[in-house]
Amino acid sequence: MKKKWAVFISGTGSNLNAMLDIRENIRLVVSSSSQALGILKSKRAGVPTLILPKPIDWNQLNQTLESFGINAIFLAGFMKIIPESFISDFKGTIINLHPSLLPDYPGLKSIEKAFQDQKPLGVSVHQVIPEVDAGEILVQRRTETLQSLESSEFLVHLSEQRLVREVIAKC
Ligand code: GAR
Repeated sequence: MKKKWAVFISGTGSNLNAMLDIRENIRLVVSSSSQALGILKSKRAGVPTLILPKPIDWNQLNQTLESFGINAIFLAGFMKIIPESFISDFKGTIINLHPSLLPDYPGLKSIEKAFQDQKPLGVSVHQVIPEVDAGEILVQRRTETLQSLESSEFLVHLSEQRLVREVIAKC
C-alpha cells in the first residue's frame, strides 16, 4: 500500500524541502514550533501544516493523523522525544533521520563529535522505538570527511537531503 506521509519538523526544514519535490506522497507537515522555517516551505508547497501546542497532546495528535489517513511518519529534524504510548498507539510506520552512522553518535551535535573524534561521518534512517536514535537501521550512507567541520557538515546535509528524497519516492 502506498504510504501517506506526515513529516515532523522543528527547525529549518531543509530535509522537508527536499522531500517536497515529491509532494504527492506528503499529506501533512507537523511542527513542534511555530517559529520553524520549515513551515514556510510546507505552506509554499500547499501542504496542510499543523503546529503542535505546548505541551503536546499526543492522543489528540494521533487522532488528527488518523483523520488525515496518515500511515507513515518521517521525523526530519523533529527535536522532541516521542513517548512510548504514541509509538504503540500509532497504526503505522515511524522513521527518523539522523546525521551519523548509528549506532555511533546518537543525540545532539553528532557530526561535530564524530569529526572531532576523526570517526567516519554519514547519515542514517532508522525505525523509531522509545529509545532515542535507536531502532532498526533501514539505510545508511557514509560521507567524505573534508578539511573543516563546516565543509564536512555540508556534505552530510547534502547526503541527508538525497537520502530522504529517495526514501519518500520509494514508499
Ligand atoms: C538534520 O541534520 C537531521 O538529521 C537532524 O536535524 C537536522 C534537521 O535539519 N536530526 C537529528 O539530529 C535527530 N536526532 P532540517 O530542519 O534542515 O531538516
